[in-house]
Amino acid sequence: MIQKNISLQPLHTFGMEVYTRLFARFGTVDGLRALLEEADALLPSGVLVLGGGSNILFTRNYDGLVLRNELMGIAQTAEDDDFVYVKAGAGENWHQFVLYCIQQGWAGIENLSLIPGNVGASPMQNIGAYGVELKDVFASLEALHRADKALVHFTPDDCAFGYRESVFKRKYKDEFIITAVTYRLRKTPVLNTSYGAIEAELQRMGIEQPGIADVSNAVINIRRSKLPDPAVVGNAGSFFKNPVVPGEQFERLLERFPGMAGYSQPDGTVKLAAGWLIEQCGWKGFRNGDAGCHERQALVLVNFGKATGAAVYQLSEDILNSVSDKFGVLLEREVNII
Ligand code: FAD
Ligand code: EPU
Repeated sequence: MIQKNISLQPLHTFGMEVYTRLFARFGTVDGLRALLEEADALLPSGVLVLGGGSNILFTRNYDGLVLRNELMGIAQTAEDDDFVYVKAGAGENWHQFVLYCIQQGWAGIENLSLIPGNVGASPMQNIGAYGVELKDVFASLEALHRADKALVHFTPDDCAFGYRESVFKRKYKDEFIITAVTYRLRKTPVLNTSYGAIEAELQRMGIEQPGIADVSNAVINIRRSKLPDPAVVGNAGSFFKNPVVPGEQFERLLERFPGMAGYSQPDGTVKLAAGWLIEQCGWKGFRNGDAGCHERQALVLVNFGKATGAAVYQLSEDILNSVSDKFGVLLEREVNII
C-alpha cells in the first residue's frame, strides 16, 4: 500500500524531520514488483530504497517514493570443506545478522560488528571496519532491475568493489534494488586482529586466546568508545571517505605536517586519515546551532536535535573547503545526500 506524506524522522539515523510524498514497505520480491508497477502510475520524481537509513542525509523533503526494505530470512544455502554459504534477506539488520553468524560459529564478519543498517546496503559501499571489508566475505547477490523488474545475479567481479565503492554507487546507480546477499563464511576462524586497537582491547579484556565472539566484543567496545550512538545523537558514521593520495604527495605533505597519519596501500598510494585532517583544521567539537562535528571523532558530523539537513550539509561544505585550503586535499562525502 502506498501512503502519502509520511515522516521519515524515525527511519534515518540523522533524525531530521523530513517528509516523503509517497511511502511503502515491501516484504517480498513480488510485493516490490507490484509496488513499482503501482508507482509508475503515480509518477514519482524518483524512487529511494531505504534500509536502516544510516548512511543518508536528507537536505529537503523527498518528492518521490521511499520504499522501505523488509525482505527477511537467513539460510545456509551450501557448504564445502572450509566454507558455509549464507544467504540473508536484504531487510535483515546487519548487526543482528553478524551476531547470528557468530552464534553458529561462522567466521569472517565479526570485525564488522555494530555497523548500523541492513544486509541489503552492505554491498552498496562495500562496508568496512577494523581490517575487514564486505568484499572479503561476499559470494553473490540478487537484485531487482527497476525498469524491467527482472531478478539479476551478481558475482564478486560484477560488483567492482573498492574502498567504500561498488558498481551500485557508480555505473548502476539507482538501477537495482538489492533483495538478498550471500556471504561465504569460514567454518574454522582465521582471526584478523591486525588493527592495533583490537589487540589492545582484547588485552584490556584479559582475553589471551580469543574466539570470534571475543573479537566481536572488542570491536563493539572500541566503537562504543568513539562513535556516537544514533539513538542518542543523530549521525551517519563517517561523513567523508578517507582520501587516497599518490605516495609523492604524501611525502611532500609529511615534510610540512610531520604528524600526519597515512596508511600505505599496495598500489603505492597512501590513505590519509580524514579525521586527523579535519581535527587539524580546528573543527573537532565544533557546534553551530544543532549541527556539529563530533568531539571524539572529527569525521562524524552530528545532529544534536533540531539541525536541518541543509545546515549539516553546509557544515560539511565548510569543512571540505578548509581541508582543501590547508592541505590541498579534496575530501569526498561518504554519506548519500538527498
Ligand atoms: P541506508 O542509509 O538506508 O541506504 C544507504 C544507500 O544505499 C542509499 O543510497 C540507499 O538508497 C541505498 N540502499 C539501501 N538499501 C538498498 C538496497 N537493498 N538496494 C539498493 N540500494 C539500497 N559504514 C561502514 O562501512 N563502516 C563503518 O564502520 C560504519 N560505521 C557507522 C557507524 C555509525 C554510528 C553510523 C550511523 C553509520 C556507520 N556506517 C559505517 C555507515 C552505514 O552504517 C553503512 O553504510 C550501512 O551499510 C548503511 O546501511 P543502511 O541499511 O542504513 O543504508
Ligand atoms: N583521527 C584523528 N582525529 C579524529 C579522528 C581520527 O586524528 O578526530 C585519527 C586517529 O587518531 C587515527 C586515524 O585518524 O590515527 C584513524 O581513525 P579511526 O581508527 O577512528 O578510523 P577512521 O579512519 O576515522 C575508518 C572508517 C570507519 C571505520 C573505522 C574503523 C572511513 C571513512 N571510516 O574511520 O567507518 O569504522 O575506520 O575501521 O573509512 C563509516 O564508514 O561510517 C565508518 C565509521
